[in-house]
Amino acid sequence: MEKIVSLCKRRGFIFPGSEIYGGLANSWDYGPLGTELKNNIKQLWWKKFVQNRDDMVGLDASLIMNPKVWEASGHLKEFSDPLIECKNCHKRFRFDEIVNPKSEIRNPKCPECGGETTLPRQFNLMFKTFIGPSEEKNNIAYFRPETAQAMFVDFKNVLDTSRKTLPFGIAQIGKAFRNEITPGNFIFRTREFEQMEIEYFIRKEDWEKYFEYWRKEMIEWIKELGVDIKNIHENEIPDKERAHYSKRTIDFDYDFPFGRKELYGLAYRTDFDLKNHFKEPPYKEEGVDAFYPHVIEPTWGVDRSVLVVLLEAYREEKERVVLRLPMKLAPYKAAVFPLLANKPELVKLARKIYDDLRKDMMVAWDDRGNIGKRYYSQDEIGTPYCITVDFDSLEKNDVTIRDRDTMKQERVKISELATILRNKLN
Ligand code: GAP
Repeated sequence: MEKIVSLCKRRGFIFPGSEIYGGLANSWDYGPLGTELKNNIKQLWWKKFVQNRDDMVGLDASLIMNPKVWEASGHLKEFSDPLIECKNCHKRFRFDEIVNPKSEIRNPKCPECGGETTLPRQFNLMFKTFIGPSEEKNNIAYFRPETAQAMFVDFKNVLDTSRKTLPFGIAQIGKAFRNEITPGNFIFRTREFEQMEIEYFIRKEDWEKYFEYWRKEMIEWIKELGVDIKNIHENEIPDKERAHYSKRTIDFDYDFPFGRKELYGLAYRTDFDLKNHFKEPPYKEEGVDAFYPHVIEPTWGVDRSVLVVLLEAYREEKERVVLRLPMKLAPYKAAVFPLLANKPELVKLARKIYDDLRKDMMVAWDDRGNIGKRYYSQDEIGTPYCITVDFDSLEKNDVTIRDRDTMKQERVKISELATILRNKLN
């Protein structure tokens, strides 16, 4: 983890948030390369699960919703974690992270100083704010703790305008906020994070079929991220530990360097949410009474996706560090170098190639140091191809393409470069 965190900072993937003011605990900012990587993950997801499908539509809802949403959804009452506090050092911990749920222990010793702890009490994770200038009880509002609720609250509007019929899904990518008791492990658990969620509406009797269907889709997605499936473990969540809305949940756990933890989740939310939000059944079909559809919910954390992609791609190979990122996710698809920075004719031709390719894909420019150093620098950020313009290029109109993974080089015609790259990248 230390190596990943340091590479992320050094190369502009992820920085500590508010750093020049001493930081803000567990807040992280995505830098130029991190933003590209994260966007590529979100775009891949949106294309796969929304644009390429006939049974899915998108949504982009407000972060702050009417507080009644959270009353109806059960979050105000139920969305809490058990908190204990050390009476000696006053550090706070999540009880369920320290004590095995099957154990009888109620106030364990403090993991930091060995002091006595308080009994666990439920701590609500909703992030509070106020709407308008006066900080009164009536003006309290909450930042959404999951994107999901908007898909239920807007269900009827989506249905009426998209005219979808069961089964169909509503998908959303966006920020969610949780006042976590113990955030940490870099971007694994933060108080502000991003989710990619689908609420897939079905008939009640089909729930097992679609639960299984989405389980397989989630595994396919994990493979597309370049994750070795042997690092993934499906974890059937027992009755007592499931979220208040779920009848069945599988967590997709990943072997993080800090332990086996949840990467994604899949839940059968029944008709719990639609029933709580709509007094009348919102779905009508010819010939049958209106009814409440049931819901399968696959959910993906964006930041945890970024983290596993980096962890899986990171390799130390002899003298180089390389991110073997899947092509589609790499921030830059190619880098262009003039062999020597002080030869204007080389720089001019390289610059033309760079400008032409940039219209098509993300391309980096580097004319510092020697070619070897430039290769290693691009390997470390996962750039799949490096293109070098040398003296032969001026006469033969060709360049060298060097492959990140094999480190092999080939000569190709400049006129064919864009097509060759596009083919390699697909
Ligand atoms: N709508 C269902 C839902 O929100 P969840 O398991 O609480 O389910 C979904 O969250 C996903 O969001 C998780 O699998 C994880 O990837 C991500 N996630 C949850 N809390 C997070 C946090 N504090 N920081 C980063 N990602 C988080």
